[in-house]
Amino acid sequence: MADLKRFLVPWIDQVKPYDTGDLVLAWSRPELKRMMINENPIPPSEKVVEAIAQAARMGNRYPDNGTRLRAKIARRYDLSPDNVFLGHGSSEVIDMIMRLFITPGDEVVLPNPTFSLYGVRAKALGGNVVPVDMTPDLEYDLPAMLRAVTPRTKVIIVCSPNNPTGGFIPDNDLIKIVELGIPTMIDEAYLEYHPEYETKAPLIRRYNHVIVAHTFSKAYGMAGIRVGYCLGDERLIQYFRKMQNPWNVSLLSLAAAEAAWDEEDELKRKTAYNNAGVDYIVKELAKIPGVKPYYSHGNYVLIDATDAGVIGKEIVDYVFEKDGIMLKAFAPLRGRPGFFRIALGTHEENALCVQSINRFFEDRKKGKKK
Ligand SMILES: Cc1ncc(COP(=O)(O)O)c(C=O)c1O
Repeated sequence: MADLKRFLVPWIDQVKPYDTGDLVLAWSRPELKRMMINENPIPPSEKVVEAIAQAARMGNRYPDNGTRLRAKIARRYDLSPDNVFLGHGSSEVIDMIMRLFITPGDEVVLPNPTFSLYGVRAKALGGNVVPVDMTPDLEYDLPAMLRAVTPRTKVIIVCSPNNPTGGFIPDNDLIKIVELGIPTMIDEAYLEYHPEYETKAPLIRRYNHVIVAHTFSKAYGMAGIRVGYCLGDERLIQYFRKMQNPWNVSLLSLAAAEAAWDEEDELKRKTAYNNAGVDYIVKELAKIPGVKPYYSHGNYVLIDATDAGVIGKEIVDYVFEKDGIMLKAFAPLRGRPGFFRIALGTHEENALCVQSINRFFEDRKKGKKK
C-alpha cells in the first residue's frame, strides 16, 4: 500500500467535503418533503424537457463552449459573449474563483452566515476562511468586513441577496468593498426572484476584479441540470478559460438552459409562486410569540426562535420525525441558538410545515404544563 500522505496536498486533512447527507436521504425516501436545500419545487417545463431530449440525440458529439447561450446571456446584460463564463452550476464558478486566486495560506473574506460552499472550496485550495459576523439585524457589517481584510486577502464574497439571511447589501457598502481592488464575487444566485432589484453586472465594466455570478438552479428551477454563469471583464474571463475544464457544461444542460432562458413567462410564474410562499411563511410564523422570521428575497426563510426558548435543531428534528419535513438547522449566531431555515416547497408543503411548527409549540406548552 502506498503512503498516500507523501503525495497528497498537505492541507487535505483540513478539508471537510460539502455535506450531501440530506440529499442522499431525500433521494432514498421520495415521500420526504425536501425543504432543507434551496431548490425550486416546480419541475422543468415541457419545452425544457423536449430540448434536453433533442440534444440527447446528438449526445455522441462534444459540446462547444456554449456559444449560443453565452450570446443570449450577453445580450440581456448588454455585454459581449466574451464577458460570460458558463459553469456546471454557479458552484463551478465559485470553485474557479478559488482556483484562480487562492494559494495555500491566502484568505477569503465572507459574511457569516452565508452559503457554506464558498468556504469548502477555499479550503480545498489551502485557503483560510475569514467569516465576518453579520450585525444583530443580520445585515452586512461593513466596518467589520473592511477590518477583516489583510494583505493575504485574495477574494471577498458578497452574496446578495444573501443565503440564508435573505437581504441585499446596500449599494454604498458594496462600492466600499469593491473599491478595495480585491477580487470580489457578487453572488446573485437568487436575484431572478426579484427583478425589481437591479443586477450589479454593470460594475464589471468599471472594475476588472468584479465577478457577478448567476445560476439556473434557483428561480429557473434547474438545480439537477447544472448550469450557472458569471460575468466579468473580458481579460478576467480569459483567465477562467485557461483554468477551466473543457466541456464543463454538457450538451443536454446547454440545451435546457437555452430553452429556459427563452421562456420568460415560465420564469415569472415560478418567481410569483415562490414569493407568495415566502410571504405566507413569514406572515404565519411571525404570529408565534418569540419566533422571528427574516423576510427573504430568495427561495428560503431564515427563522430565529431563540426568544421562544428553543434551539433551531429541536424544531428541525420535530418536523422531521412527526411530518417527514426536512429543514436545516444553523449553528448559533451571536450567541443565539434558535436559527433554522425553511427552503420553500409547494404551497401544500409550506402549509404542512407551518402546521407542524405550530404543533411543535403547542406540544411544548402542553409538556410544560404537565
Ligand atoms: C448563494 C448561492 N450561490 C450558489 C449556489 C450554488 O448553486 P448552483 O451550483 O446549483 O448554481 C447556491 C446554492 O444553494 C447558493 O445558495
